[in-house]
Amino acid sequence: MYLTREEERILEGEEGEILAKMMEILVKVGEIYHADRLIPITSAQISGVSYNTIGDSGLHFLNSLKGAKVRVLTTLNPLAFDERYLYELGVDEKTYNKQMEIIKAYVDIGVKTTATCTPYYFDNIPKFGEHIAWAESSAVIYVNSIIGARTNREGAITALASALIGKTPNYGLHLEKKRKATHLVELDFQPEGEEYPLLGLLLGERVKGIPYLRIGGNYDDFKLMGAAMAASGSVAMYHVENFTPEYRKALHDDVERIFIERKELENNASCEDVELVAIGCPHVSPSELRRIADYLKGKKKRTGVELWIFVARSVKERYPELIRMIENFGGKVMVDTCVVVSNAGKIYHTIGTNSGKAAFYLAKEKFGGAKVVVRDLYTLLRSVVQ
Ligand code: F3S
Repeated sequence: MYLTREEERILEGEEGEILAKMMEILVKVGEIYHADRLIPITSAQISGVSYNTIGDSGLHFLNSLKGAKVRVLTTLNPLAFDERYLYELGVDEKTYNKQMEIIKAYVDIGVKTTATCTPYYFDNIPKFGEHIAWAESSAVIYVNSIIGARTNREGAITALASALIGKTPNYGLHLEKKRKATHLVELDFQPEGEEYPLLGLLLGERVKGIPYLRIGGNYDDFKLMGAAMAASGSVAMYHVENFTPEYRKALHDDVERIFIERKELENNASCEDVELVAIGCPHVSPSELRRIADYLKGKKKRTGVELWIFVARSVKERYPELIRMIENFGGKVMVDTCVVVSNAGKIYHTIGTNSGKAAFYLAKEKFGGAKVVVRDLYTLLRSVVQ
């Protein structure tokens, strides 16, 4: 891989040990994937934030970065709790203190503590064609597919290395030719409601590449579908005909066809007896927040079930009247955390959600092994109303 004189200097340690280590990581990744060079990025999104997931070894690594500073706008994924709900989230003193240390370590290197997986609403909005280095698979697939920005599916360490160096290796989804569809998905139905995340889970299992779909839907439908696809598989981009910005150049003669029938998504799960309804994985958009608030306005919550809505702090701050409507109903609107990286899955045994990604993770032993029911937004909301 070609390195400029400046990049070689960093690699040789002339700008300190930390940057040399970060450059070494980027060069190694670049060599593995046959990148020709490093390219500048305009932003980074860092995952690996919750103490519940990175533990002491992650904290130790972050503390070793003291003195370094990020070179581009760098935002942060959700952490283990919302400070307003420490009791409800079962946060012990050790987790609280360690999480605060993690946040401090990120602040010290110049990272914005946005604590959301949807920075693309207000905090970190990449433009079409921009090269970025983002971790957080749901955000990666959203910005590649819906916005047309360019990022590979970075890990916590490579995103951090890119943020500190301001560059990323030029390979994969940074290259025009690697952004074409690999699979043409043919369906015998038009998805509705929870079929978007369920279809996403199925596509994640079947497609090792970039699916092309001919379906209708809105930004929120596709956000849920993409997050699920990126959770159950390694998909980092999809095209939707007449919707996503790069679909016109996506198809070619070698595309593989796959067929999916509606009956493969059959889902009769009832959410009547779930203990927790969790919405906002990925964090809810302003339009989802409005739909939730409008539906709950003037209604009363059923006892025996909790409603938790997860949202970016920046979204919550912009819509105080919607937050009030949800909280007056008895729902909890949580920021900075999410149903997966908090303790929610260890507290509740049956959880209803409209997120295929949340269902994928919460069912795992590591996240509590809850019984998870995936239904559409309004079915879930109806189930918490008296
Ligand atoms: Fe976001 Fe947490 Fe889901 S980070 S995508 S809400 S698992």
